[in-house]
Amino acid sequence: MTNVLEAVLQDVDQQLTDGFTLPATWYWHEAVFVREREQIFSRMWQYAGPSDWISEPGQYFPCKAGQTPLVVTRGDDGEVRAFVNICRHRGCAVVRGRGDKGSLQCPYHAWTYGMDGSLRAAPRSEREPSFDRAEFGLAPARAEVWGPFVFVNADPNAAPLSETLRDLPAAIAASGLDVSKVRFHERAQWDPQPINWKVGVENDLECYHCSIAHPGFTRFLDTRPDAWGMETQSTYTSQTGLMREKVIDGTVDSPYDINGEVKRSQAHVLWPNVAFHVLPGQHNMTVMSWRPTGPQQTIVTQDFYFSPDASEEFIADYRRFDAEVGGEDEVLIAAVQEGLSSGVFPHGRLLLDSENLIASFQRWLYEALQ
Ligand code: FES
Ligand SMILES: [Fe+2]
Repeated sequence: MTNVLEAVLQDVDQQLTDGFTLPATWYWHEAVFVREREQIFSRMWQYAGPSDWISEPGQYFPCKAGQTPLVVTRGDDGEVRAFVNICRHRGCAVVRGRGDKGSLQCPYHAWTYGMDGSLRAAPRSEREPSFDRAEFGLAPARAEVWGPFVFVNADPNAAPLSETLRDLPAAIAASGLDVSKVRFHERAQWDPQPINWKVGVENDLECYHCSIAHPGFTRFLDTRPDAWGMETQSTYTSQTGLMREKVIDGTVDSPYDINGEVKRSQAHVLWPNVAFHVLPGQHNMTVMSWRPTGPQQTIVTQDFYFSPDASEEFIADYRRFDAEVGGEDEVLIAAVQEGLSSGVFPHGRLLLDSENLIASFQRWLYEALQ
């Protein structure tokens, strides 16, 4: 561990400044994965799912912050809370899927917890003179809601979500999307991808690859360097784009019906591992997250949100377009991982004019691992 991380930390600082990427070892080594789990995924806010899943008291859903299993609940008092989804008896996962029973019952021996995490019942515990139920509530974590999104943090003492979001909600609104106008539609989740989570995030941080890798996307949006907006804020990065003139005037077909109030595409990556994508047209948003389950294994989820009156046809066209672009990326990021894990590639070289958002992300990562 020391060799891989400690010995190179000073070198990496200078290499990032000089435009080099993080060392390739940081994309496959177990020691880096463990350090990321401790320093990032155990203590930072992560997207969990749609607030629709806990819109009513008594509803709950399981999720994970990094490797930490959590359950998000809404209590009778209306409060949204999160707890570690591990039974205090012998460690079984308490809930496996979404529910609305108003209590959380472990399937192993039926210990039952309230939506406030307290242990309400433990069969036969009355036969144990020294057993005190009050000592065995679910361990607390944190949950907060922003618009239609629930975020969780495994650290019960984490600073509020607003300190991570900063002015991202305002930036999204300024680019023309009102998050209160989208409703959760569906979650897409794939088999675990054979990539380090950072390869997935970094692919989302530049459109330098768009003209060669995404011909349909590039026909639709103006991805030329002077037209493509890129900004780094303290906790997130933003890319914005406009539709090509020929798409607007109808000379070139659009991939879906582009009529609507949203005029710009937006792609915001919120540190550490979630992206919000908006395409021009009627209100829409996809939320992508990359959750590592190993140094070279990542669970990618994509939650689709649309305006409640979006037509089936619009949704089908939109998703066909999105799947086309996503499929093009999937092949490329797997190929990047192969190169990074080969052992013969020390690090890459960024083009800082086009890939400065990757440089920001890698700097945040470096600082988090210090
Ligand atoms: S492990 Fe949960 S009730 Fe036994
Ligand atoms: Fe891409």
